[in-house]
Amino acid sequence: MTSVTGKPVSYWIDSTPQGEFPTFQADLLPDLRVDVAIVGGGIAGMTAAMLLKQAGKTVAVIEADTIGAGVTGKTTAKITSLHQLVYASLIKEHGEEKARLYGESNQAAIEQVSLWVRSEEIDCDFSRRSTYTFAESSGQLDKIKDEVEAAQRLGLPASFVTETSLPFPIAGAVKFDNQAQFHPRKYLQHLARLISGAGSYIFEHTRVTGLEEGAPCKIVTERGVLWAQDVLITTNLPISDEGLFFAKGYPQRSYIVAAEVDPSQAPEGMYIGVGEGYRSLRTTPYGDRLLLMIGGEGHKVGTVEDTESRFAKLEEYGRDRFGIESFAYRWSNQDIVSFDKLPYVGRLTPMHEHTFVATGFSLWGMSNGTLAGMLLADAVQGKDNPWESLYDSLRVTPFLSGTSIKENLDVGKHWVGDRLKGLTEHSLNDVAIGEGKLLTIDGKKVAAYRDEQSQIHAVSATCPHLGCIVNWNNAEKSWDCPCHGSRFGCDGEILQGPAIQPLEQA
Ligand code: FES
Repeated sequence: MTSVTGKPVSYWIDSTPQGEFPTFQADLLPDLRVDVAIVGGGIAGMTAAMLLKQAGKTVAVIEADTIGAGVTGKTTAKITSLHQLVYASLIKEHGEEKARLYGESNQAAIEQVSLWVRSEEIDCDFSRRSTYTFAESSGQLDKIKDEVEAAQRLGLPASFVTETSLPFPIAGAVKFDNQAQFHPRKYLQHLARLISGAGSYIFEHTRVTGLEEGAPCKIVTERGVLWAQDVLITTNLPISDEGLFFAKGYPQRSYIVAAEVDPSQAPEGMYIGVGEGYRSLRTTPYGDRLLLMIGGEGHKVGTVEDTESRFAKLEEYGRDRFGIESFAYRWSNQDIVSFDKLPYVGRLTPMHEHTFVATGFSLWGMSNGTLAGMLLADAVQGKDNPWESLYDSLRVTPFLSGTSIKENLDVGKHWVGDRLKGLTEHSLNDVAIGEGKLLTIDGKKVAAYRDEQSQIHAVSATCPHLGCIVNWNNAEKSWDCPCHGSRFGCDGEILQGPAIQPLEQA
């Protein structure tokens, strides 16, 4: 097995306080009622919470972990409207007007973040940078040129370049001017401090286990109930299945390694490649030095067994291209990719008047998540928003494209394939030290991990969300569900939803 280095935690999470807000306890706050409850303290939820608080509403953000410790805390944190190659295909699939709105809304998201950084004096390593989508080989140049042309047609700040500050030659790149990067958790933690108080709350380590729409809406947590006029579900994939959003996208996993880099080798700006083996690159301040982040090796959840080898490939790239000798961090992330490339933002179902969702940010959550928060804040206040119909959560088009049909079939295959995969071993003795394995014991499907002290951790292999069988993730020692992306620790605890219950003890 390949061995990788680097502390297995996101730099953003490792370099910020590990939580500073209380858990919700109904006995300390009986009959708590706010205007808006926000389930999930990532960038979408916190943006909405901040806007609503500024509009005079009382809010309660309820986060199962700590603010910004979920998907937002594990991105490369580029705030940009250049989403690799998106505009040429958006024009083709949705038409020029919708593609223009997509660009415009993502540009507006950059300005929203920039506005708060300035007005609230948020110390979050925010800086304006150019972003680039680059092709190393001339075989990919047509795609790059098509994207430049599409983006220029839509009025976006795009140009074609062949020279960049990367320490290797490229064939060509799309360049967007005046984009931005930041430290996402410093940003969110600062927003949290501004939101909390005067009748508004931030609750950390508080898992929501049930929601009931009503007047008011009921929010059930592990430690009691609270009430709100409106509820926003901003949990990456909604924790409520009623809107069937789990069937409108697929979970995509990607990997990041980070290392101190020689400033002479460090690229200026933010980069992403195209095609197989693409890499995502950016730097961030690291004390008085520079940390280079290298992302890539993305795949659909559950399609790769040796996840550790993905980190190894990124490290190899860092050594080859940037002369890096040792790596400080490695982590992975998981996001929901919308089948039609557009996020879903709006009501949970046509029957829900007071419960809203945002999901499907398709790996571009810093801008898509911010604009989703802006849309949700307007929706709650009954304000018109020019992007509302583009991102309408109730739209019915996503299953029309060939890609989406294939993606759906892949998810469907897990339901059948799960019944056949592995599960042929029958004894815990078959599990080696450091290994996770699926077993069938007394007719039950068991996910077993043997730790370095030879202790077995055995839990049910059946995901409590909708019953798929989980897969072992060897790089991060977790059980990951291939169907909709729930993740669990070795003892079954929830690491990522949509599941709201842990894996049962075996
Ligand atoms: Fe849906 Fe596991 S996440 S079945």
